[in-house]
Amino acid sequence: MEYKISEIAKVAKLLKVKFEKLEDKRAVLRAPELGALYVRIKTLPAGKARAEFGSEVNALKAELESIIKQAQDSKLPALSSIDVTAPFDVNVKAQDRPKLLAASSGSRHPLTTELETILDIFYRMGFTAVESRELDDDYHMFTSLNFPKDHPARDEYDTFVTDEGLVAPAHTSIMQNRVFKAMDIPIRAVIPGRVFRNEDLDARHEHTFYQLEGVYVDEGINAGHLIATLKTFFQEYFQKDVEVKTQPFYFPFTEPSFEFAASCPFCDKKGCAICSYSGWIELLGCGLIHPNVLREGGIDPSKYTGFAWGGGIERLVMIKYGIEDIRYFHSSNLKFLRQFV
Ligand code: DAH
Repeated sequence: MEYKISEIAKVAKLLKVKFEKLEDKRAVLRAPELGALYVRIKTLPAGKARAEFGSEVNALKAELESIIKQAQDSKLPALSSIDVTAPFDVNVKAQDRPKLLAASSGSRHPLTTELETILDIFYRMGFTAVESRELDDDYHMFTSLNFPKDHPARDEYDTFVTDEGLVAPAHTSIMQNRVFKAMDIPIRAVIPGRVFRNEDLDARHEHTFYQLEGVYVDEGINAGHLIATLKTFFQEYFQKDVEVKTQPFYFPFTEPSFEFAASCPFCDKKGCAICSYSGWIELLGCGLIHPNVLREGGIDPSKYTGFAWGGGIERLVMIKYGIEDIRYFHSSNLKFLRQFV
């Protein structure tokens, strides 16, 4: 590239010499000589000369970027091209394929094992399990659960949406309406499923995790039944007596709504790292099913009442085993997984 302005031509020549010697090629963009040219633009009087100077400096920067890219591309090893859409066995020769592992060298994922334990406790209490789903619509995600259109409570459940407008469910509550319509009263169902959220990831937040939903509908059901059911479950799961408490909360699909906490099974309320030294662990959201949700599910709320809850499964397992980071579950980290074999 030829530069008409001699000052810029000089810098261009100099920077190309520098470039050859640089280990980190991108460093040429930070060269003081280039920075000085940008400073110079601002000192020129506004007008044609300044515009020309500015556009040549930009052209120099673009040229430098393009030689950086060329240098980077030439470092890549040459590979023969493959059809990335072809099945595995077309691109990988038989002798290069990984050997199949014997079933005996595999094991069940800890979440599978724990979910079985959890479901078993609920089966013994008379519950049936219904599997959740991994793609749904706005009606089951929000409308059937008494979220008015454009209500700010929808923001709590920000998740992934397909171009066709389908939703990756942000909670297993999507199944409530289906269960109400499909089952006869008394309804006692637990609903495990994978859910998805737009989260800032950290040791306690994942974009993909599992929840266990529960619903119970019959005549004369009240919050006492809810608390007794959950307390029984947690004592069975942790194999230990726990105290429980509820705090008022808000969910559109329950009235009243609660946050449910149990005394820390690790330290018995003395305070430890697992319960953040509070003695209590918040476990799930719950409440008495809102009459609008029952009605939408074809159940007469003047005759029947019910309770529901929903909570993260990883969180429970983390408390039981003292696991400090939720991201281990989907990491495929064998050191983590082999502890549960
Ligand atoms: N769906 C709620 C969530 O993911 C949890 C929940 C709260 C579920 C109360 C319920 C309920 O069924 O009654 O945040």
